[in-house]
Amino acid sequence: MALIIRSPDIDELPGLSDLCFRSKAVWGYDEKFMEACRRELSFAPQDLEQTHVAVAEEDGRILGVVQIRISAAEAELLKLFIEPEVVRKGTGRALFAWATDVSRRTGASRIVVEADPGAAPFYRKIGARDAGQAPSGSIPGRMLPRLVFDVLR
Ligand SMILES: CC(C)(COP(=O)(O)OP(=O)(O)OC[C@H]1O[C@@H](n2cnc3c(N)ncnc32)[C@H](O)[C@@H]1OP(=O)(O)O)[C@@H](O)C(=O)NCCC(=O)NCCS
Repeated sequence: MALIIRSPDIDELPGLSDLCFRSKAVWGYDEKFMEACRRELSFAPQDLEQTHVAVAEEDGRILGVVQIRISAAEAELLKLFIEPEVVRKGTGRALFAWATDVSRRTGASRIVVEADPGAAPFYRKIGARDAGQAPSGSIPGRMLPRLVFDVLR
């Protein structure tokens, strides 16, 4: 069955927040760390108006979610999370391609990612370049790899 990329409904947001939490946990963080990240891993209803969100669905099951925020020439990747049991099957690449399309259509020329260190090799693999570090939005004092993906016209 084919992978469908579509917008989520508002009543799917709590389930998507849970998906992000499960997905982030694959890197083996402890409970305290995960709780500190919970807000950043959650969706709020206004996200559907203020940002661009898409899910990847196959056989009626949601396998992953992506969220970007566009401001002028720059798109910020806020979330990209895949269900743990289906990682490395192309879902992340498909959702990132959707984010690239939206960025191109809305005039953004690059996508900036403040990545989990475990996910940085994925972004490099799909064409992003390293661009320094950025402070974590959840854990004071933690620095994250910052990567930039150029959106080709
Ligand atoms: C990182 C993540 C989004 C990647 O999505 P995915 O569906 O597993 O990745 P894909 O299958 O589309 O992989 C695309 C390519 O990147 C490679 N890749 C994926 N994850 C990788 C990793 N952790 N390390 C090295 N390469 C990786 C794949 O092998 C594939 O290469 P190929 O085209 O040569 O086969 C996913 O693993 C995930 O959700 N991880 C946990 C949560 C997380 O950290 N999210 C990112 C927050 S910034």
